[in-house]
Amino acid sequence: MPASFPFTTPRASDSEPEAQELLAAHGPVVPATMGPIPIWLALSYAACRQVLTDQRFSREEATRPGGPVTVPSGANPLVLSSMEGRRHARTRKLVASAFSPRMVATLEPRVQAITDSLLEAQPSDLVAGLCVPLPTMVICELLGVPYSDAPDIRRWTGRLMTARLTPEELRQAENDMQGYLADLVEYKRLRPDDKLITALVSAHDEGGHLTSAEMLANLQLLLAAGHDTTVNQLGNSLLTLLRHPGELRRLIDSPALIGTAVDELLRFSRLMAATLPRVTTEAVVLEGVSLKAGAAVLPIISAANRDPSVFGDPDRLDLSRDDAPPLALGYGPHYCLGAQLAKLELRVALTSVLARFPGLRLAVEESELSYRMETNVRALVSLPVAW
Ligand code: HEM
Repeated sequence: MPASFPFTTPRASDSEPEAQELLAAHGPVVPATMGPIPIWLALSYAACRQVLTDQRFSREEATRPGGPVTVPSGANPLVLSSMEGRRHARTRKLVASAFSPRMVATLEPRVQAITDSLLEAQPSDLVAGLCVPLPTMVICELLGVPYSDAPDIRRWTGRLMTARLTPEELRQAENDMQGYLADLVEYKRLRPDDKLITALVSAHDEGGHLTSAEMLANLQLLLAAGHDTTVNQLGNSLLTLLRHPGELRRLIDSPALIGTAVDELLRFSRLMAATLPRVTTEAVVLEGVSLKAGAAVLPIISAANRDPSVFGDPDRLDLSRDDAPPLALGYGPHYCLGAQLAKLELRVALTSVLARFPGLRLAVEESELSYRMETNVRALVSLPVAW
């Protein structure tokens, strides 16, 4: 019986035991099925890293009709994460020029101020009171999107992140978000500001600007993937800390641990089982397993993040761990473009919550927590707390 993906792991689990067992029992690369599609699962850290860095594993090939798809909106060929080679490098450079580390660094005081004002209200549910509004406000501010539009943006994002959308539903969800973004781009052309949409409108190289279709698709990616991931990773990280009172206390007593703590929480506290699928452009040997050209491969980053040959005692949360970078933000040419921003938000939010509420604890039984089931990511519905 080949393995099958998605796994059946309960949402509450920080880890992906089915994938870890496959790695231990069958090695780093195993055949599986994803619905009707045969797909190889890359399970070890080395196998995932090769798939994510070796250009013979192509995102572009994976978005062709009939290719492996884990989230329908992720298969749009116009978005950065669906491109490969020179086309990817050029588009990434254009988007990254508008999304510079300098722009992110200048956001730190704003991230702190937004966090402080949210915590001032003493939220009894950290999902509604902090995890949702913080990344949503930050991405709106970064792009130059009015925050009064946030409820619509959350609603459209929710649809786009849905794991099982029919083609009609996907077209409708993209039309809604892209219609809104097209109006906003026009507005910014007339009234430029110092935010990302304006920067992207004026970004160009010797090949010219992004086409309007490319710009809208990539703005949609930044707006949707750029906050929903952080919303849920923050909620999961807080829950993981509450489940490990010893490590929680360690972080309260030694706030300087926050740098390694954020990496460790990204490693340990599973957001998603896998990152985006790839398809081989030629025959490749992956960790001793021969794959034919045209083979679909899924990097199971949740298993790689617990690979015992890289992370000593991988099922132990250790906030000072520095074995290796986790693969939660990807690796190689498609490494998360928002990684610095996501880490900044996690750092500021976790530090501020623990400084303000050192007695933080769950206000309900853990079994009462529920998760959004329509998405592939592990997404808490609420996180009721007391202190
Ligand atoms: C904790 C939060 C986040 C997580 C866990 C996360 C995870 C990831 C992962 C795993 C990838 C690699 C996809 C692959 O190679 O298959 C990725 C790519 C990407 N992420 Fe993030 N992300 C987060 C936050 C953000 C934010 C805040 C933004 C933008 C503001 C963002 C924008 C992007 C973009 C544009 C890409 C595509 C890069 C490319 O293909 O060159 N992400 N992210």
